[in-house]
Amino acid sequence: MLAEHKQKVFENFLQDLSGDELTWVNGYLNGIVSKNSEKKEAVALKPAVNKITITYGTETGNSKKIATDFAAKAKKSGINVKLVSLDQYRLNDLTKEEYFFTVVSTHGDGEPPAATKKFYDHIHNNGFRFDKLKYGVLALGDTSYPLFCKTGEDIDEQLGKLGGNRIAPLKKCDLEFDEDANQWLEKVFQTLSTPSQTEIKMPAAPTEVKKTSTKKTYTGTVLANININDRGSNKETYHIELAVEEPEYEPGDSVGIVPENLNSVVEEVLALTGIDRNKEIEYRDEWFTVFDLLKKRVNIIQLAPSVVKKYAALVGQTIPDGKIDLTDLLKIYPAKDAAQFEEALALLNPIAPRLYTIASSPEAHSGEVHLTIEKDEFHVDDELKFGLCSEYLGEVKIDNEIKFFVQKNKRFRLPAEDKDIIMIGPGTGIAAFRSFLAERDSKDATGKNWLFFGEQHFATDFLYQTEIQNWSDIGVLTKVNVAFSQDQEDRIFVHHKMLEHAAELYDWIQQGAYVYVCGQKDPMSVLVENTLLQIIEQSGNKTKEEAKKYLDELKEMGRYSKDVY
Ligand SMILES: Cc1cc2nc3c(=O)[nH]c(=O)nc-3n(C[C@H](O)[C@H](O)[C@H](O)COP(=O)(O)O)c2cc1C
Repeated sequence: MLAEHKQKVFENFLQDLSGDELTWVNGYLNGIVSKNSEKKEAVALKPAVNKITITYGTETGNSKKIATDFAAKAKKSGINVKLVSLDQYRLNDLTKEEYFFTVVSTHGDGEPPAATKKFYDHIHNNGFRFDKLKYGVLALGDTSYPLFCKTGEDIDEQLGKLGGNRIAPLKKCDLEFDEDANQWLEKVFQTLSTPSQTEIKMPAAPTEVKKTSTKKTYTGTVLANININDRGSNKETYHIELAVEEPEYEPGDSVGIVPENLNSVVEEVLALTGIDRNKEIEYRDEWFTVFDLLKKRVNIIQLAPSVVKKYAALVGQTIPDGKIDLTDLLKIYPAKDAAQFEEALALLNPIAPRLYTIASSPEAHSGEVHLTIEKDEFHVDDELKFGLCSEYLGEVKIDNEIKFFVQKNKRFRLPAEDKDIIMIGPGTGIAAFRSFLAERDSKDATGKNWLFFGEQHFATDFLYQTEIQNWSDIGVLTKVNVAFSQDQEDRIFVHHKMLEHAAELYDWIQQGAYVYVCGQKDPMSVLVENTLLQIIEQSGNKTKEEAKKYLDELKEMGRYSKDVY
């Protein structure tokens, strides 16, 4: 409001102005107003809190990157920051914390990253209460997965249950997380700058998720599906070639495939429930016949405990906790009738995509995508079972179609063509390195290439032996070392081969080589990493701490990368 005399002067002034002049005055005043509010904001964003803890739980580095940016910004604005990975976090400190933030991703089938497991179990299993904790969780995930951002959700909920004060609402981010993460950080900084707000307990408002992973779905036509283990092997590994129109990927990327349920299992479910296979029903905003829903969309094997719990409530029975196949569930705790089973269908989770590292090179195998799939076998109560996706892929026939998306892996990339690389990839880990080698061969890359490969038996399990031999003969492969674990009395694995060549391996690294590990996470990649540390320590004359720092620096520089599962 203007005082009366001021308003008069102002109106007199405006009276004689032309349209253009009025527009100019309008802009001028706007400029003054926004400058003023910027000044006010700058004052408001001075932090009222002087110490915070920022933690992260990561598998592939995204959460760490965000947490590190967060810490840098907080330090810049004058806040004292403790930045720590959740696996290094001293759990006893938790109840002493006042301002605690965590950036955490979800992996596996809705599971915490390995480095977060200890923290996750600690807050879920140990009964304690917070009396002063104020916290915020930023969750990273991928909307293609049915259990989107599950770990972040769980941690956010549990810290609240233990008496923590949520001072920033949980934010769930899809793969393109930069914008959402920045918005969350802004909110956190606003909260930290306004002392009164920090005391307000925020509800766990479900944040709306912008779906940013608009991943392109490809259809591949099967050109070949060959078991590349020889007769007598304990394993079945399929080399699958797909014809794909203009696939966009780089060596190091993976494909995500949503497997279908086996016809025999779907038929068993239909028979157990008597539901009409052709009835059209809605599931998560899409319409399916009951048969198609059971075949292509819902997970019916190893149901998650949360699904079993909801089913128990629906059928009014007490069912013990744990994972169980839908067929077993229906046999032991049947649905009352087809109508009740239709309700149960809505409780099921969608089938999760499985990721497989691509074994082909865009340069060498244009218009194709190759995969290396080991048939996954396991026992449940003495019964032999197969992994859903590997069994599905093992049985696809020539000309069948497979739908997939490409999962980028920016942290597992070939370096410049003149750089040397060391590849450690036993078992199906060879997939990434078949891609790397084919790409380097096609591009006549001048860098040296050293491969470590391992399997059970030379005679039956030397995957891609002919190609590896050829690359070795023509000099694409500078060195190859193989370990066949069961061909002699003492088990020999790739890490033993690395040790045998410790001095040379260290020398390659010192000369700038990039190190890659692909394949089984545990124990393979753990043993390989420990061996690398041992080699750096011994050949580099370093202490344990120095060796660790050396390897950490290689990681930071992108010279030590893992694609493990
Ligand atoms: C093997 C694998 C499994 C994943 N499983 C899930 C999942 O179940 N739910 C989810 O929301 N995101 C899932 N993701 C996506 C990751 O959470 C996402 O890529 C995230 O940005 C990774 O962050 P990080 O680098 O900090 O680990 C999965 C990713 C991979 C590679």
